[in-house]
Formats: sequence, C-alpha cells, structure tokens
Amino acid sequence: MTFTNRAAWIQGEKVHPVVVEDGPTPNPSEDEVVIKVSHAAVNPADWMCQDSALPPHIKYPFILGLDVAGTIVQLGSNVTRFKIGQRVIGHCDGLGTAKASNMGFQLYSTTREIFVSAIPDSLPLENAAVLPCSISTAATALFVHLKVPLPSLNPKPVGQRILVWGGSSSVGCSMIQLAVAAGLEVVTTASAANHDLMKYLGASHVFDYHDADVSEKISKVLRTGDLVVDAISTAGTQTQCGGILGRLGGGTLPVTLPQAGTFPENVKATFIICIDPGFTVLDVGNAVWREYIPEALAAGKFQAKPDPIVIEGGLEKVQEGIDLLRKGVSAKKVVINLS
Ligand SMILES: NC(=O)c1ccc[n+]([C@@H]2O[C@H](COP(=O)([O-])OP(=O)(O)OC[C@H]3O[C@@H](n4cnc5c(N)ncnc54)[C@H](OP(=O)(O)O)[C@@H]3O)[C@@H](O)[C@H]2O)c1
Repeated sequence: MTFTNRAAWIQGEKVHPVVVEDGPTPNPSEDEVVIKVSHAAVNPADWMCQDSALPPHIKYPFILGLDVAGTIVQLGSNVTRFKIGQRVIGHCDGLGTAKASNMGFQLYSTTREIFVSAIPDSLPLENAAVLPCSISTAATALFVHLKVPLPSLNPKPVGQRILVWGGSSSVGCSMIQLAVAAGLEVVTTASAANHDLMKYLGASHVFDYHDADVSEKISKVLRTGDLVVDAISTAGTQTQCGGILGRLGGGTLPVTLPQAGTFPENVKATFIICIDPGFTVLDVGNAVWREYIPEALAAGKFQAKPDPIVIEGGLEKVQEGIDLLRKGVSAKKVVINLS
C-alpha cells in the first residue's frame, strides 16, 4: 500500500519555521500501525526541541509532533486489535525510535500499536487529539514511578491522597483522571478560572497556586504517606512540591522536566520519560493503552480535556501552532486540523 505523504520538517538545530515537503513513505513494522492524521496536537516538547535541539540520537531533518487523532489505514502483520478505517488516537513514538515516519505533523503517521487506542464515535477527532502524550506521561508518573494501582472503571479507594501540581495542564487533566481511576483522592492546583474543570475531572480539593500560602493550605489536607507529582516542573514548582512531600515524610517526586528544584533529603525527584509504557514498561502500556483508555473513553469515564484551540489550514499552519503554544495556554491544547 502506498500513500502520498506530506510533512512539516524541522531542517536543523534552532531552524524556524518548519517547512512543508514530501513526507516519509509509511512502512510499518509488524507491531506498528499507520494512522491517516485528521488532527495533530502541539506539545511544549515541540517548541522546546525547536528552540534548543532534538535529542542527540535523532538526525535532522526531522518531524515534530507527538499526538495524533485519525483513522487506521495500515496494520503491521502482528496487529489484530484494530481494523482499517477505525477512528483512533496515537502517541507518536518517534522520539524513541528516531524515525521521522513516527512523528505527528504529517498526513500519515506510524506508531507502535501499544500507543494507540480506539475512540468512540461520539468523540470528535479534534478533541481526541489532546490526549495521547498526556495519557502516557500521567501513566508513567503514577503507575511506574509511584506504583499506584492500575486504573479501573470501578476503582477501590486506596485511602491515599495525591497532590497533582498543575491540574489544568494537559498532563494534569489526564493525571487527575488516571489517579481517580487508581482509587486515589486528588488534590490539585490551578488558576481560579479552571477550578470547575478540576472538579469535573474528579479532583476533590483545588487550590489556586497564585496564593502566597498555597503550600500551607495544601499541606493541611494531606497526610503522612500521601503522594505528590509535579506536572509543571519549573524550578519553583519542583521546590514547592518537594517541600510539601518532605513535610509528609518524603518519597518519590515524579517531575515532567529535568530536575531543577531544591529538595529536602527525604525527597527523590525522578524524571518522567513518557514513552516508557511503549518501550520498557509494557505491562503499564498494556493496562493503560490497550485496556483502560478504550473502555473508559467508550464508557464516558475518561474525558478528552483540556479543550482544543483548533487551527485550520493543514500542515502549513504547524509553525503557527507551535508559536502559539510557546506563548502559553490556560487549560487548552493547540490542535492543527490536517484533514
Ligand atoms: N517528561 C515527559 O515525558 C513530558 C511529557 C509531556 C509533557 N512534559 C512537560 O510537562 C509540562 C506540562 O506539559 P503540558 O503540555 O501539560 O503543559 P500545558 O498544558 O501547556 O500547561 C499549561 C498549564 O500550565 C499551568 N501552569 C503554569 N504555571 C503553573 C504553576 N506555576 N503551577 C501550576 N500550574 C501552572 C497553567 O494553569 P492555569 O492556566 O490554571 O494557571 C496552564 O493551564 C511541560 O513542561 C512539558 O514539557 C514532559
């Protein structure tokens, strides 16, 4: 099967803008699928990689983009879980495989089957595109680093609370929902305008991180043995989260950016690598991507949040989307319509 592919290429280190040219011809291995991309979301990693450099194992020119929603057009020989034409989301694994074909800002994107979930007909592709990378990131923090129970449609309360710092971020929205599905009670932070969204996603306590005494307020609703994860991970949030966890007795603090904060001796910050569930901790990938997410989306128990800011106009608009996210968003995800 051959497809005429086009892609938005980053030509070299710190080169701006990305350039639309012919894309790689899809050639899925036995465990991969090819998705005709309808919508691709932008992640902070896209502008961070453009402004600094791709990881050293990746050669230019390359393609950015980690999140796609679309339809299956080709299946690797081992893949039996999907049908041609099925509507899906996929977490693009190209930062792990170093294959440009396995990134998101192209018309046909390849990824490993363990990073793909069917979506219900009721879920628009532009909304669904917000999810993939955030699911993998949240899953890695919760089920790999913190080892909480795997998610279930009918979770048993575990009698523990978790502070998700930055609940209104994309990662935070999936983190809250997966933590609730693990049986945890969720405490989170967001600007006041996003508190209703945090409650809708299942948080039981929400604090405005702009309050000068937010750490003290949060500490009052947490107990020894409770958990903390930092979805934002500036030096300031890492230090704040580390301080809160330290006062709870310490433990592991998953962080989404490399360690930049100052931590008490009883806190160990661990950097989340969101592709781990598809490469190294396949039991988590299986439980989340193959089992929980398709069932939870179909049952309406997992919401595609935050809402997208949809940019129309196809691949030519990818740079505009990256530039928009670089300026910052509040409980929104930038999504490009490639259809
Ligand atoms: N390590 C990995 O594998 C991995 C994977 C994915 C993402 N990441 C990283 O994770 C971080 C989050 O990514 P994302 O896509 O979820 O970000 P995002 O959605 O673009 O983040 C925007 C949100 O951040 C919130 N925010 C900003 N500063 C905050 C603070 N000091 N405290 C609490 N919330 C704050 C804002 O909340 P309000 O609007 O409510 O104020 C806003 O809703 C990024 O640094 C990204 O690079 C890492």
